[in-house]
Amino acid sequence: MTAQAHIVVTRAIPEAGLTLLREKATVWVNPEDRPLTRDELLARAATAQGVIGLLTDRIDAGFFDAAPLLRGYANYAVGYDNIDVPEATRRGMPVSNTPDVLTQATAELAFGLILAVARHIVAADSTMRSGNWPGWGPMQFIGTELAGKTLGIYGPGRIGATVARLSRGFAMPIVACGGRKPNEALVRECGATYLPFEDFLAAADVICITAPLTPQTRHAFNAATFARMRPTAILVNTGRGPIIDEAALVTALRDGRIAGAGLDVYEFEPRMAEGLAALPNVVITPHIGSATDAARNGMATLAARNLLAMLEGTTPPTCLNPEVLGRP
Ligand code: GLV
Ligand code: GLV
Repeated sequence: MTAQAHIVVTRAIPEAGLTLLREKATVWVNPEDRPLTRDELLARAATAQGVIGLLTDRIDAGFFDAAPLLRGYANYAVGYDNIDVPEATRRGMPVSNTPDVLTQATAELAFGLILAVARHIVAADSTMRSGNWPGWGPMQFIGTELAGKTLGIYGPGRIGATVARLSRGFAMPIVACGGRKPNEALVRECGATYLPFEDFLAAADVICITAPLTPQTRHAFNAATFARMRPTAILVNTGRGPIIDEAALVTALRDGRIAGAGLDVYEFEPRMAEGLAALPNVVITPHIGSATDAARNGMATLAARNLLAMLEGTTPPTCLNPEVLGRP
């Protein structure tokens, strides 16, 4: 790799990753606290040998067309529905994501959302802050105990298996659904039972979505599926927003079709479906699943290692299309 290799980072990421990049290349980092517009992204890509981008950057044929010098793209995210991977592969362009380093952080947030919804923690906190708490009452904020309730993992990969492991202190039986093949770790360590989707929906007291967004998972949760869930069920999503038909979720929550929801991701980020924020039985966080020091430093370092390996012609640690490596 020549000393002049030019790398574009579309939004400031932790220094740990930028330091690695600056040792080997000239680095331009978006100085603004906002994503690049499409035009800005394409203009910056025009001179870049490597780009590190976000889940909000669309990495498709138009992007590759605008980047004639590009030799690799590293996503600063585990989810990669923003990348047209088949198109990258067709062009022999390596692309990567950041698995593993954010698994624990995301699973911990998912469990936090489960607890927050089950025990009305956010609404209870608001009552205290409002100054209107009249004092202890036998009927205030009565929630659901998790112990012994069935936890459903939808899309059980690394994150789903970690949510299941975290639940062991609550002795929750585990049911699972989705994924390309059964997650052996989940079955072996947590005794998970795989069920067909309809049975899964009916069996779970808590459903935690940890699936990637694919044509198969888009709107997998919709009016028809809410009707099959338990009226006492809690739905948590730390995967991708469009897995849930968000307008249908608002209706289901409003009508008491299901009991509550904890959401970290939204169908049309940064917007929310109309009515969602007004519902008392939802806890809503702004896509912070990986927002811990450990995870974000790990993501920055891994994205940098991936990109530098692409530029140096060595093997990137977590390439999404390794079949292009070494292709002339
Ligand atoms: C965040 O949503 C990620 O995919 O890393
Ligand atoms: C992501 O790391 C997953 O496999 O769930």
